[in-house]
Amino acid sequence: LSDFFTPKTLQGKRILMTAGPTYEAIDPVRGITNLSSGKMGYALAQACRQAGALVTLVSGPTALPRPYGVRFLPVQSAQQMLDTVMAELDMAASTISIDCFIGVAAVADWRPLQVASQKIKKERGLAQDGTILTGADGTSHAGTGTAGAGDTSYAGMGSARTGGTSHTGTAPAGADRPSRTGTVPADTLTLALTQNPDILASVARRPDAPYCVGFAAESEDLLHHATEKRIRKGIPLLVGNLGPATFGQDDNTLLLVDEHGTRTLPAGSKTALARWLAQELGRRLPA
Ligand code: CTP
Ligand code: CA
Repeated sequence: LSDFFTPKTLQGKRILMTAGPTYEAIDPVRGITNLSSGKMGYALAQACRQAGALVTLVSGPTALPRPYGVRFLPVQSAQQMLDTVMAELDMAASTISIDCFIGVAAVADWRPLQVASQKIKKERGLAQDGTILTGADGTSHAGTGTAGAGDTSYAGMGSARTGGTSHTGTAPAGADRPSRTGTVPADTLTLALTQNPDILASVARRPDAPYCVGFAAESEDLLHHATEKRIRKGIPLLVGNLGPATFGQDDNTLLLVDEHGTRTLPAGSKTALARWLAQELGRRLPA
């Protein structure tokens, strides 16, 4: 029924969206992910469709039902999300172009440098250089490329590398291992992470970039971070919200940031805010 009463502000517009978290595998049974229920993105997909748009939703794993009437492309990792989004844009380039890209996904900023092909056993774990060990003797490697000396792409949780001396065996049981920053307890697992591509910024950089909208959940100083982020990503509109209070909740408070400044929307349910945003998009997209 709400379909009937929704003004068709986005009639015939093609909208490509991302939503949900991404999941970055460590091994076949474990991974790294982000706190995101997907509620805001799914609500927005639904609201855009109700406003008349043709919506394609590229979604990471969520527990939500697929939004009705929306083309749904499920993915897991950030790389898969990027590939799927780019394939959609490439395909559109030779047919009917996409009018708008909305990145609502909570994309994992980091993924494990190596993915173990088998479940990592707790008594073996990782070697000192970050190499994931899976062999019975603790020496066979999973994934591609070991963490070589001079590789500067390390980030995150205190690498236990020892500056060039690459160890491939396990530390003796119970023994602490040396590291750059001191000793690492024998029961510590160090995981080397590498940065994921920025999907939204990649879309915005395309010569055929559609109107791009970003979402940013911040834990502090929303105004400052959201303003800076909009410019850094090269996008016309960024929607900010203060998490983690709103994560997984049905209600949200949003801040709109564009080239003219900022506007705070009154707090409301994610469904109500999504409807409001869909109408707002209808006003902003070129006719
Ligand atoms: N985004 C993306 N790809 C990434 C990271 C973020 O497409 N690898 C998109 C999100 O979908 C969102 C926007 O960028 O629309 C902002 O995400 P956010 O995580 O707030 O931005 P980051 O640039 O990752 O900055 P931060 O260091 O604050 O996480
Ligand atoms: Ca991020």
